[in-house]
Amino acid sequence: MMWKSIPKSCIHVSAVCLKKSPAAKRWLERQLSDPFVKAAHSQDYRCRSAFKLIEIDDKYKILKPGYSVVDCGAAPGAWSQVAVQRVNSTGERTELSKGSVIGIDLLRIAPLDGAQFLCSHDIMNPSTHMELERLLPEAQADVILSDMAPNASGFRELDHENLVTMCLSMLDLTERVLRTGGSLVCKYWDGYLAHKLQQRLSLMFKDVRTVKPKASRNESAEVYFLARTFKKR
Ligand SMILES: C[S@@+](CC[C@H](N)C(=O)[O-])C[C@H]1O[C@@H](n2cnc3c(N)ncnc32)[C@H](O)[C@@H]1O
Repeated sequence: MMWKSIPKSCIHVSAVCLKKSPAAKRWLERQLSDPFVKAAHSQDYRCRSAFKLIEIDDKYKILKPGYSVVDCGAAPGAWSQVAVQRVNSTGERTELSKGSVIGIDLLRIAPLDGAQFLCSHDIMNPSTHMELERLLPEAQADVILSDMAPNASGFRELDHENLVTMCLSMLDLTERVLRTGGSLVCKYWDGYLAHKLQQRLSLMFKDVRTVKPKASRNESAEVYFLARTFKKR
């Protein structure tokens, strides 16, 4: 009975929690009372992060039918699910243009209709950039998404530095494949290097702003840059 009420996204950790470490118990309690976890379960999203992208896109309308999207750090695939629906990459709505979604991650991602995944691929490796360029229609993307996060070291500053390094590599990829006028959403953890990321984005895009969607927990250092109107060099 108890298992039935646990959202799918928690099941793996629930098993761990049954061993009753206090931190794991706290985590489980938070998951079970989180409205976004419940909504992800009822709407069949792979995790609650789907609602961060939904909120950003509902407000700023960056995903349109027919668009090509690259989803960096795509596992387990919730952002890709949202992108598939919004760019019509399954071609389900025949009256609309059909888009494409390519997700990249170090981890395995379960197959998703309408998306192609480059699993076991590191965004920091130039061979990933080359492979992506080969797969993209006309070697161009309309939107780059990045919800990447390195494994947490437990040292906030180090985690911040590692994520900024990954984001800078993702921006190298962006310069190669994003079409002029395209958009980007990029997660970062706030810290002393955030301005460096913002400076680079401001050179690349006409409009750069920070957004903190409701599904992003207040206590988290996580923030997103939304960058629009890419200026190709
Ligand atoms: C917060 S999760 C992304 C969740 C995803 N947006 C979703 O909605 O399902 C962050 C992901 O970044 C991936 N990641 C971390 N470092 C990476 C790297 N160097 N290259 C590609 N992916 C990476 C992790 O493996 C992890 O799956």
